[in-house]
Amino acid sequence: MVSSKIKVKTPIVELDGDEMTRILWQVVKEKLLLPFLDMKLEYYDLGLKHRDDTDDQVTVDAAEAIKKFGVGVKCATITPNKDRIKEYGLKQEWRSPNGTLRAILDGTVFRAPILIKNIKPTVSCWKKPIHIARHAYGDVYRNAEIRVPGPGKGELVYTPENGEPIRLTIQDFKGAGILQGIHNTDQSITSFAQACFTYAYDNKIDLWLGIKDTISKTYDAQFRIIFQDEYQSHWEKKFQEANLDYNFTLIDDTVARIMRSEGGMLWACKNYDGDVMSDMLGSSYGSLAIMTSVLVSPQGYFEYEASHGTVQKHYYKHLKGEKTSTNSMALIFAWTGALKKRGELDNTPDVVAFAEKLEKTAVETIESGVMTGDLMRVAEPNPHNRQVYAVEFIEAIAENLQVRA
Ligand SMILES: NC(=O)c1ccc[n+]([C@@H]2O[C@H](COP(=O)([O-])OP(=O)(O)OC[C@H]3O[C@@H](n4cnc5c(N)ncnc54)[C@H](O)[C@@H]3O)[C@@H](O)[C@H]2O)c1
Repeated sequence: MVSSKIKVKTPIVELDGDEMTRILWQVVKEKLLLPFLDMKLEYYDLGLKHRDDTDDQVTVDAAEAIKKFGVGVKCATITPNKDRIKEYGLKQEWRSPNGTLRAILDGTVFRAPILIKNIKPTVSCWKKPIHIARHAYGDVYRNAEIRVPGPGKGELVYTPENGEPIRLTIQDFKGAGILQGIHNTDQSITSFAQACFTYAYDNKIDLWLGIKDTISKTYDAQFRIIFQDEYQSHWEKKFQEANLDYNFTLIDDTVARIMRSEGGMLWACKNYDGDVMSDMLGSSYGSLAIMTSVLVSPQGYFEYEASHGTVQKHYYKHLKGEKTSTNSMALIFAWTGALKKRGELDNTPDVVAFAEKLEKTAVETIESGVMTGDLMRVAEPNPHNRQVYAVEFIEAIAENLQVRA
């Protein structure tokens, strides 16, 4: 039995969420955390109903609390659409909470798979996690597009506040076609670079950046210039001391090298590349529910979350009184990520050790054959494998944790 609880010195900011993940969030706290930890939580209810009641002020307040305390942990939340407005009787279609948090914390999202021995990545040489950073600003996601109806000149024009416009011809159209304008800012790319170097250094892994500056000699080249500048000004010495590398290559070369690597690096991606490649990694490593996700701001704020959604279909079953086999691994790892960071910042190694023990116990529970339905489909076949319901899975981890306590 546990004799005394481990003290977490500084409060952790807790952002509650929606649907099935909200239900399991409570179970994880009740069975895996509160019996072992003496921790103070700064609680913000980001459940859709409460966001609506507060005109979404609660999301802003939660972001400000993360700025104040440094570390937050977030459950999955509904991003409302027309159906949700009806379902919850909302005042309006509130923005995505993740978007609001990202905008206030100015952060970059990092994702990494949780490696489990009996769930092999489909790429057989990947032995270590490949971490991915997606620059979540600009490019094609904030574009301006024109369907060109017929012959005419397509131009790129920049009009400065003072001075003469700069004009470039994109294409003299002889017939119909398409045109697109995209942008990025030095400030956003710099934040991205700072967050990437911080994350790679924290996790003691190499940093790879892949872009296409042979073709895009100004736009993509600006990413190379800013990353190089950030590296030389703030990281070169630290990286050398920690025996870490910063590699810059063309994106096609990066992809080829990633496919032949054993993993274990941070891959910094431009917005579109990150969108596509993170899904490729997620699917290769097994399930969205075994990916970790953290928002890191260049000012040193951290928000840990599950990368999947609220598992809506399971929630509707739950409401009908049916049991579901929902996987809580990403929720558990959101908490352990936050606890490890809190312990590191507070200089409380016993908190870090507890979080590591919980992670190891959760992974070993799956390796012993006890797992949820999503993993049964991708795990190596074994007569010991046993599909369990969501709460049973958390209880199995709790039992194993008690044995180790
Ligand atoms: N980070 C976030 O807060 C976040 C991310 C994505 C979607 N959402 C929200 O979640 C809601 C549902 O969206 P969705 O259905 O597209 O995404 P989802 O991630 O909830 O589900 C996608 C698919 O993956 C499966 N799945 C996901 N997580 C699982 C888990 N832990 N265990 C077992 N199976 C799992 C689901 O059953 C479903 O088939 C939406 O309202 C959306 O706005 C939130």
